[in-house]
Amino acid sequence: MILSKNIKKKGLNFMKIKEIKEKIKIGIDKIGFAMPKYFLDIRDLALGRNENENKFVKGLMQSEMSISTVTEDIVSLGASAAAQILDEEDKKNIDMVIVGTESGVDQSKASAVFIHHLLNIQPFARCIEIKEACYGATAALSFAKNYIEKNNDASVLVIASDIARYGIDTPGESTQGAGSVAMLIKKDPAIAVINDENVCQTRDIMDFWRPNYSDFPYVDGHFSTKQYLDCLTTTFEEYKKRYSQSLDDFDAFCFHLPFPKLGLKAINSILEKNIEKEIKNDFLEKFHTSIIYGKRVGNIYTGSLYLSLLSLLENCVNLNGGDKIGMYSYGSGAVCEFFNLTLAEGFKNHLRCDRLNDFENRKQLSMEEYENMFFEKIVLDEEGNCDFSNNKFIQESDNSFVLAKIENHKRVYKKLNE
Ligand code: HMG
Repeated sequence: MILSKNIKKKGLNFMKIKEIKEKIKIGIDKIGFAMPKYFLDIRDLALGRNENENKFVKGLMQSEMSISTVTEDIVSLGASAAAQILDEEDKKNIDMVIVGTESGVDQSKASAVFIHHLLNIQPFARCIEIKEACYGATAALSFAKNYIEKNNDASVLVIASDIARYGIDTPGESTQGAGSVAMLIKKDPAIAVINDENVCQTRDIMDFWRPNYSDFPYVDGHFSTKQYLDCLTTTFEEYKKRYSQSLDDFDAFCFHLPFPKLGLKAINSILEKNIEKEIKNDFLEKFHTSIIYGKRVGNIYTGSLYLSLLSLLENCVNLNGGDKIGMYSYGSGAVCEFFNLTLAEGFKNHLRCDRLNDFENRKQLSMEEYENMFFEKIVLDEEGNCDFSNNKFIQESDNSFVLAKIENHKRVYKKLNE
């Protein structure tokens, strides 16, 4: 029915009809999330920095920040997120592992290679790392989709893994975080189909960047928020024009969330002025379910859009199979993309409904503990060794993998709970 309407409208020829009929659906089949065991209450940060707590709680809409330890990095968190979702069959079918990150552990070797080994994925796979600030994982999804279009029975593991550290007493400090989202991409996915319609935009700007010699990013904070919002409105306008779509075509939106208040500004900027109150409230209600996890984790750079998707799908009671989710990905520098997903029938059966317990089971840090833990530097001896085996963070970790030691400058990871 929909097919014949489209064919009439667009006057498609026979070959095109055949192509549409045969086009396979590709998308997210499984999704997992790993975060560190520790968090800082944002009100403690405000107190410690002589700020009014409402600046962070209301002004940024942030509540907590995930704090990683020296025994965690994007490899251990990424492998832990993936370990939650993969079974032995998946590991035999994964042809490619792509990690989107801007907190890589090596300038040469891809983190995906470590993760491929830790997860015991079949050997004839390709493993790479993709970088463009917070946009990396979205580029990885697109790469994965293109690959599966040509290799229909393959699966691709896409991992978005980052640790966002701005430094002590900086304007960005209240927007830090750490965590990884892992997604298994394949045909006929159980959670959501990644549709073809998308628009990207690139602007050569210096809103946020981290030179190789610096542990922390340089940020033009207010300029970055303006660029994020302007890229959204201009890209969404172009998207609507190119695909003859409007707000009516969407059931919910997810945004890259450097802090949740920017997401609220983002949704308000695309809801038309004359929109019916009921429809506006429905979009806003769904938006608020999409920030539940982000509010408690902070910015996880390239994973933050996908954490917002996970939050929406696991917490919204108002979504059904067939619903369309508008997705806005933004990476400083800057590259953005607006694309969309269609939810699969029964998607809820493939998600967790008890994830909030994981947040409750974390340990709260004092300001002093936070400063010591999050900014602890690895100190190597003359031979390039450092051993964390007896580190209490390893004993306390709930994740599947940790960084156990560095031996002769080589990172060595350990599987826990074996
Ligand atoms: P700031 O300049 O210290 O804060 O840091 P502010 O003065 O702009 O205040 C923040 C908000 O709190 C404002 O709300 C204030 O009014 C409000 P707004 O007017 O914008 O709606 N406020 C209060 N509200 C209630 N009670 C109070 C109170 N006081 C103030 N008492 C800034 C803000 C975002 C600049 C800073 O956090 C920062 O630099 N963050 C890092 C950069 C960032 O997150 N940029 C976002 C866009 S770029 C992006 O998303 C890419 C990124 O993820 C990186 C990548 O791609 O890799 C960052």
